[in-house]
Amino acid sequence: MELDYLGIVLRWFHIMAAIALVGGALFQKLALFGPCGELPEETRQRLNDGIRRRWSKVVMLAILFLLVSGLINYILTIRPYTQNVKLFQNDYSELKLPRAYHILFCIKFLMALVIFFIASALAGRGRATAGIRAKAAGWLSFNLLLAVVLVAISGVMRSYHTGPNVMKVIDVLKQETNAPPAPPLGGPPPAGAQPVGPGTKPATENAPMDLDVKVPEF
Ligand code: HEM
Repeated sequence: MELDYLGIVLRWFHIMAAIALVGGALFQKLALFGPCGELPEETRQRLNDGIRRRWSKVVMLAILFLLVSGLINYILTIRPYTQNVKLFQNDYSELKLPRAYHILFCIKFLMALVIFFIASALAGRGRATAGIRAKAAGWLSFNLLLAVVLVAISGVMRSYHTGPNVMKVIDVLKQETNAPPAPPLGGPPPAGAQPVGPGTKPATENAPMDLDVKVPEF
């Protein structure tokens, strides 16, 4: 089996960055805020400043990785379809990437920009975003809600081109179960059966391939 190494590395970067950004927000909201609020004002301020100084670097790096890996991922996913528009619209319409995929990508991209803005404001020090930090708990909850919806959208996007593999396997198994029983070993083959022996290939492999497909070089 051939592996798509570039795709795997990009996916790894994308998911690691998403884990860091969303996991960090979840930790702050569920574990850090409560005990932090019980500290004396001066200690709490120092702790907050220390956390923000370190966390802002993680946030910036995660945003960079998500943007770069996400955009490349999108281009790599749609390229085979956009370079063979006719083929996938006329002959293999069931395989074309639906418009919903691109719409979901746009929604996801806009939501990601909002998440990035709120995460940067919460981890930053600028005066313009001080209002967001003053109501940090509420903004953090809102950001987490957006992130949950965004991850759900990503899953749906993926299923548009990877397809329901499990259901396909079940379909094949069902067809095999309903197929007529194979002839006994050594017995005559059923009428119309393709001869099988050294040098013969399954019917699908012998079928002529006359597709004019442009496979992008990565
Ligand atoms: C908070 C920010 C983001 C989070 C939490 C996030 C999360 C995810 C996750 C978990 C997946 C994997 C889905 C799967 O493999 O099942 C994914 C895939 C993807 N993401 Fe993101 N993402 C974010 C931002 C972005 C951005 C900014 C872009 C575009 C610039 C982007 C583009 C993509 C693309 C194209 C895929 C592949 C979808 C597919 O398989 O068709 N993501 N994202």
